[in-house]
Amino acid sequence: MNADNNNGIDLSEARLDDFMASIISKKSRDFGYPINRKSLLIGFYRWLWGSGMNLNMLNNAGDPFDGQEHTIPNTFEFEREVVQYFASLYGFEQDNVWGMVTFSGTDGNNHGIYFGSKYLEKKTGKKPVMYVSDAAHYSSKRLADLQNLDLRVIPSDVHGRMIVEEFEKALVKDRPALVVYALGTTFKGGCDDQDALNAVLEKYPDITVYRHMDAALFGGYLPHTKYRDFVNTNVHPFDSIAISGHKFFGTDEPAGVFITSMEVRKNQNPVEVSYLNADMPMISCSRSAVSPLKLWWIINHTSKEEFEEYSSGMLEVAEWLKEELEKIGWPVWLEPMSNTVYFRRPPVDVVKKYDLAPDFDDRLGGELSHIVVMQHVKKEKLQEFIDDLK
Ligand SMILES: Cc1ncc(COP(=O)(O)O)c(C=O)c1O
Repeated sequence: MNADNNNGIDLSEARLDDFMASIISKKSRDFGYPINRKSLLIGFYRWLWGSGMNLNMLNNAGDPFDGQEHTIPNTFEFEREVVQYFASLYGFEQDNVWGMVTFSGTDGNNHGIYFGSKYLEKKTGKKPVMYVSDAAHYSSKRLADLQNLDLRVIPSDVHGRMIVEEFEKALVKDRPALVVYALGTTFKGGCDDQDALNAVLEKYPDITVYRHMDAALFGGYLPHTKYRDFVNTNVHPFDSIAISGHKFFGTDEPAGVFITSMEVRKNQNPVEVSYLNADMPMISCSRSAVSPLKLWWIINHTSKEEFEEYSSGMLEVAEWLKEELEKIGWPVWLEPMSNTVYFRRPPVDVVKKYDLAPDFDDRLGGELSHIVVMQHVKKEKLQEFIDDLK
């Protein structure tokens, strides 16, 4: 390839190498976003280059659980195993589960909200009202808008949890309720109090309820900790859950998993697609055949003990960081079950150096930042951050 084209654009591989080198050099002090930079895909790529898969087009268009013959080459077989793995972590029965590998946590939320709203409409003949807290990820609010749903945004408390009394006040008693529970809000890592919100819903037995759990980051690691019951539908009931694959599991491109029951799947708004030999419940037609394989690789090449070690390591380092910041008198908070330490926003050069995301809460003195303690965030690098703050 020419080193530059007619427009003077540098097309050399050296340029690509420089670009990658600068990304890699930042790796160990990339603290501000919930991305796991510890790759678990090295063996996968070794396999991929030799396999011929990189020379073929596969496409998971269609329903991996419909039991039909699909003529387009796909990885449904592996996608089903991924769904079954997560279904059992979240307490779904293997004979009553449906799911898929998604493009992202947002895509999973889109399906949770869509499936929930269609399910409720089918059961009650009425359009639901959707409830989500103002601390939840913006995707739920954007998606309610996209799906033209009647949305009630409920204020959150200082910990990032939906205020239970405000939820009760906002409840529309003669319409079904589509409630999005945030398990780990993006900025503060707050978790909605499922028991308290469920207790409110129980007071109104005439309201038909669908609960979607947005557990983009926490849904990855909580099953490997003593908090596992918070993502177990048998203990804290929910109808669907969405997680991201590129957060705790470290896929090298955005991906996610969406899980629900077959009962919800069967009560959708089917669209018959003859050339896919299927009724299509999902929103996207073409879907990646590679991300299911990557997730399949990661869950089958990482032991239960390793997942437990990553999870407890993240929580332990988060606790340590909080204590160290307290020691130097820097205002800091950490919510239960969370790996996200939030604190008074440091000066701008420190924010830039560590790629820290900004937020604002008057109740906590104004400007805030956070560090998301993922697998690659180590105490030595955090110590450098603390020294910079000092
Ligand atoms: C709580 C929560 N939900 C949803 C999302 C969106 O996930 P994704 O970036 O995979 O679309 C995020 C992303 O940070 C998140 O923190």
